[in-house]
Amino acid sequence: MNTPQRVEHQQTDRGTIPVYATGVVEQPWQDYSAVDHHVWGELFERQRAILPGRACREFLESQNTLKMSADAIPRFDELNPILRAATGWELVGVEGLLPEYTFFEHLANRRFPVTWWIRKPEQIDYISEPDLFHDLFGHVPLLMNPVFADYMQAYGRGALKAHGIGEHALLNLTRLYWYTVEFGLIATPEGLRIYGAGIVSSKGESIYCLESDAPNRIGFDLERIMRTRYRIDTYQQTYFVIDDFEQLFEATRPDFTPIYRQVKAMDDIRARDVLETDKVFHRGTREGFATDADA
Ligand code: PHE
Ligand code: CO
Repeated sequence: MNTPQRVEHQQTDRGTIPVYATGVVEQPWQDYSAVDHHVWGELFERQRAILPGRACREFLESQNTLKMSADAIPRFDELNPILRAATGWELVGVEGLLPEYTFFEHLANRRFPVTWWIRKPEQIDYISEPDLFHDLFGHVPLLMNPVFADYMQAYGRGALKAHGIGEHALLNLTRLYWYTVEFGLIATPEGLRIYGAGIVSSKGESIYCLESDAPNRIGFDLERIMRTRYRIDTYQQTYFVIDDFEQLFEATRPDFTPIYRQVKAMDDIRARDVLETDKVFHRGTREGFATDADA
């Protein structure tokens, strides 16, 4: 397997992350090694063994419709006709994380970028950046759902708009992506289920997010999400729970421009309060002012 080409780094909420080449590449399917296919198969089986009863029905059913299996790494050109027929989305191969603007442009045009390379055997349990398994196994199934598919496109368009508004708007939207597309939970009639790609592609977090008492699981709240920091190096401290994909789509339909302003105004007030308190009481900590979200 060729090694992907690393071009630059980008400073984000998640720390410093590598950003790969911006171009779309053909999936070099013939070049995958036996080890690559084996890594896919092992991860696939492991996740499929624990996800029934944990992942939402839409996710599991769509994965079947797409005919993903443990046998071999799926071919983008075999998934695309199925995906196009269902929702008009299509997969494009990429070298890895894209610069923000390029990524949003793809989403706004119903193209989902999928990293073409898969992790090495020693990275089975943890990899700090998205690879083919995360992108394909985790993200692609829900693009088969018409409402979620529309949400993803609306997100891309909204992000292009936020890009023109400023840093804080974009940061708020990145958090929305994180707490829905990557780490979202959904309250179904059968019980709490996972729909976030970052969870379904991780064995440990698939169990932790539902069964541990440690994290908060709170109802979807747009402004609260926009104010909630996240980390990439541990399981989440807070998960936001939607009732269904319609709720997610409707809650994010309004124009966010005034909401960004409001969230920023609140952040500014809090920052000023903290500084003044520091002066008077010589407090060395922000703790008294942190929301649980900030901890
Ligand atoms: N309604 C949002 C806006 O006006 C766009 C958006 C939709 C953002 C869905 C995220 C998700 O900016
Ligand atoms: Co992802």
